[in-house]
Amino acid sequence: MQTGITGFLSMVAQGCTNCPHPVEQELAPLTKRIKIGVIGDPHVDIRGEDGWRLGASSVSGLTTTVAVLNEKEPDLVLVPGDLLADGEQENLDRAKAVLDRLHCPYLVVSGNHDYIPADRSRLRRGFNYLSSAEFVGAFTGHGYDDTGKLYWSQKMSAAGLRVIGLDGCLREEKIGWGGVLPQQQLAFLAHELQQATRRCIVMVHHSLLHWGDDGNSQKGRWYSLDNSADVRRILEKYRHKVAMVISGHRHIGLRFQCRNGVPYFVVPSINTYPLRYVMLTLDAEGIGWRTFPVSVAEGCHEKARLGLLASSSFAGLDEQQKKKLLLFYENSAQRTGFHPW
Ligand SMILES: [Fe+2]
Ligand SMILES: [Fe+2]
Repeated sequence: MQTGITGFLSMVAQGCTNCPHPVEQELAPLTKRIKIGVIGDPHVDIRGEDGWRLGASSVSGLTTTVAVLNEKEPDLVLVPGDLLADGEQENLDRAKAVLDRLHCPYLVVSGNHDYIPADRSRLRRGFNYLSSAEFVGAFTGHGYDDTGKLYWSQKMSAAGLRVIGLDGCLREEKIGWGGVLPQQQLAFLAHELQQATRRCIVMVHHSLLHWGDDGNSQKGRWYSLDNSADVRRILEKYRHKVAMVISGHRHIGLRFQCRNGVPYFVVPSINTYPLRYVMLTLDAEGIGWRTFPVSVAEGCHEKARLGLLASSSFAGLDEQQKKKLLLFYENSAQRTGFHPW
């Protein structure tokens, strides 16, 4: 049996029949089995009410998730955006105070709810609102460096990995929740992957794939970056270096798909039904994942489920269609899984 990097590269070459993994150069091996927690779309709202999104229970949902993750002793926690209800300073202060309780490093990218909304009619009394520069400043050291850039690349020495954070949010858009990755970040991604000597995780709030029938409607398309194909082309060029892509924003049960050799995850929100967080395990053989229910007060899961059923996504559907769409949101078939390299 082959061992070490030779064995790993052999597995890369053979492991996934659907996904060609050309081996162009040797990468530093993972230094150990790596555990990564993912907290999707926490949307902290200290003055909100519990509904489709948790408001009143959003802080306790994040607090218990952080506590449980600490017990599981991950090497790293990723937070792929939408930490806040809508760009509020007070919600950021609370979210950060809770995330700072993590015993391991955590990395953050901004989502489309992490800065002052372009549509000022959404501002609520009693809150102060953040610029993106202020959000970046608050999370300097958690991916962001002191240059103020919205994107970043971090070597995780303890894990033998690099993590690249990208941001395609459209900050001046008043309508919708879409995104486009700027040219500068496409060049940055290509440069970082070309230079990388270790496997890279790419984290970006918006998806790079359509999930379900998202590609068939304008609202659905807002879940992905408009120029996802350009981003995917870069990832595919360096696919032997891309450990995985992690996105949030979609608020559905975990989805995984390996396309053209690049593994993509969209993670559930800890704040909306089905209220789950994620644990990933990376080792020489591949990526394993498992999702867990968020521990919140009794009734919150049902409140979130009923809130989702009452949302515009379900409007006008008959009972059969509602049932089918709810199963799409839950996606319990992929609650756990494993993908060989
Ligand atoms: Fe979100
Ligand atoms: Fe979002």
